[in-house]
Amino acid sequence: MKEGLEELRKKANTELDSAVCREELLAIKTRYLGRKGLLTQFLRKLKDVPAEARPALGQLSNVIKESLSRRTEERLKNVGLVKKDGILQEEKIDVTLPGRGVEYGKIHPVTRVSNEICEIFSILGFNVVEGPEVELDYYNFEALNIPKDHPARDMQDTFYVTDDVVLRTHTSPVQIRVMEKEQPPIRIISPGKVYRPDSDISHTPMFHQIEGLLVDKGITFGDLKGILTFFLHEVFGKDTLLRFRPSFFPFTEPSAEVDIQCVMCHGAGCSVCGQSGWLEILGSGMVDPEVFKTVGYDPEAVSGFAFGLGLERIAMLKYGISDIRLFFENDQKFLKQF
Ligand code: DAH
Repeated sequence: MKEGLEELRKKANTELDSAVCREELLAIKTRYLGRKGLLTQFLRKLKDVPAEARPALGQLSNVIKESLSRRTEERLKNVGLVKKDGILQEEKIDVTLPGRGVEYGKIHPVTRVSNEICEIFSILGFNVVEGPEVELDYYNFEALNIPKDHPARDMQDTFYVTDDVVLRTHTSPVQIRVMEKEQPPIRIISPGKVYRPDSDISHTPMFHQIEGLLVDKGITFGDLKGILTFFLHEVFGKDTLLRFRPSFFPFTEPSAEVDIQCVMCHGAGCSVCGQSGWLEILGSGMVDPEVFKTVGYDPEAVSGFAFGLGLERIAMLKYGISDIRLFFENDQKFLKQF
């Protein structure tokens, strides 16, 4: 019987040692020490043992019972800790590791150029205004002195919505909208999207222009030259050579196109400037008296100048981009460079 008890103790100890969770330990405790447990059954059998052997066996049983209880309690205590350790180990966070960076977007190069130009003209007292992209034929053409038979009205150059409504082909209609509403002095700059059915390496069906208009008493071509020179020197650098060339626009008279010396070859001649050494940058001119009459201004009392330029072209020259279509492909690798 003594051997049986020792055997039982050994088995119970092995089981207690290899138990991995609280539930298992409690089951072992019940299996050996519970009311119907193996050790309890053993103790009950003591009454059948000869009287002389009973005290020694009883004592041994009690020792085993106590030691199993103690051992179970100890294991119960540290099985929780071991488990906690495991969880802590698993969920460990190394707060010294560098964080995962958040990717920020960038300002689009065309927006960047637009903002820069608006800032330059703000310094000169110009207000930024916007106009509709879906525009009446009247503002896009008629009021700008572009008669019905003008080649710019050809269906190929204009997206028509209806006979009287177009996607604006330039930002110049904003001039008319502003002059209709306000009296001189006027100094406005108007950036925005314009549309023409063109698509190749230097044209996209949608692109951006910026329009400028200054009207006041006694404004001369000298003012036009002075302000546009200041502006182009701010954008391209003070040493940039400029050239004012006579030109024609239906809404200005006289008109001039402004060239800058080629930013790529500095005048030597290259593929970007078509070997001429010059780059056409903007259209401008003194507001045509016919336009003033249309908006109800007295061309004898006020004068002014206007100008318009393409923003993609400026961005291409400033950042050395050779294909205009890159601006609208939303390729992050391209856009992140600016
Ligand atoms: N609207 C013209 C274009 O799209 C650009 C332009 C030329 C605007 C002369 C002007 C100007 O205001 O005076 O090509």
